Amino acid sequence: MLFTTTLLSALVAVGGALAQTTPPGFMPAVNKTLDVYYGTQYITPGLTVKKSSVSKQPTIGVTGQTLTGKYLLAMIAAHHHRRPGTPRGTVLHALLQDWTPSGQAQNGSSILTTKATGPASYFGPAPPAETPKHPHNYIFLLHEQPDNFAVPAAHKSAVQQRLGINWPKFITDAGLSEPIAANYLQVQSGDNTKRFVA
Ligand SMILES: *[C@@H]1O[C@H](CO)[C@@H](O)[C@H](O)[C@H]1NC(C)=O
Ligand SMILES: *[C@@H]1O[C@H](CO)[C@@H](O)[C@H](O)[C@H]1NC(C)=O
Repeated sequence: MLFTTTLLSALVAVGGALAQTTPPGFMPAVNKTLDVYYGTQYITPGLTVKKSSVSKQPTIGVTGQTLTGKYLLAMIAAHHHRRPGTPRGTVLHALLQDWTPSGQAQNGSSILTTKATGPASYFGPAPPAETPKHPHNYIFLLHEQPDNFAVPAAHKSAVQQRLGINWPKFITDAGLSEPIAANYLQVQSGDNTKRFVA
């Protein structure tokens, strides 16, 4: 059955394209890629990068999705605290609103831009030194931004302090839909390279 075989390979191909773009275990799980560029460096989901190459806010975009309206970007570090009794921590590295399609393209991505520097401006990964070293995940999540978006009262302190943000709860409380695209990168603990770009 040639038809069946062709159909199956097509489904397998689609399955491949739907690889998860958030780290295993992170919620919400997302399958669509947010295109993230640090300069000309394209981030494939899970790419390990030098701290020094991700110190400035990246360029973001999407491929194969037509976007209209406004979008909200979160960048969250999920740290694995291994000491007993300490909860798995999160650090909010950016929460930037009012992204809109710029009409520009980079490497086939439709680029989004924003003039906003908040609710929480970008700060680059700086994982602490640890023994043994392990990679830290930094997750990007792009959501449609509801009209009159504001940080819900219950999350104001976490956003201000950048600590302990609970993104699934934020999604519910802020009335967001599931992310439309996501990505993540990894930086090794103790990567304090400041001057040498990869
Ligand atoms: C992502 O894709 C996998 C495999 O195709 C699927 O099982 C999973 O439900 C998808 N997740 C989402 C959030 O769409
Ligand atoms: C262009 O995007 C593709 C994914 O769509 C990626 O694999 C490739 O590395 C990117 N190249 C550059 C130069 O950004």
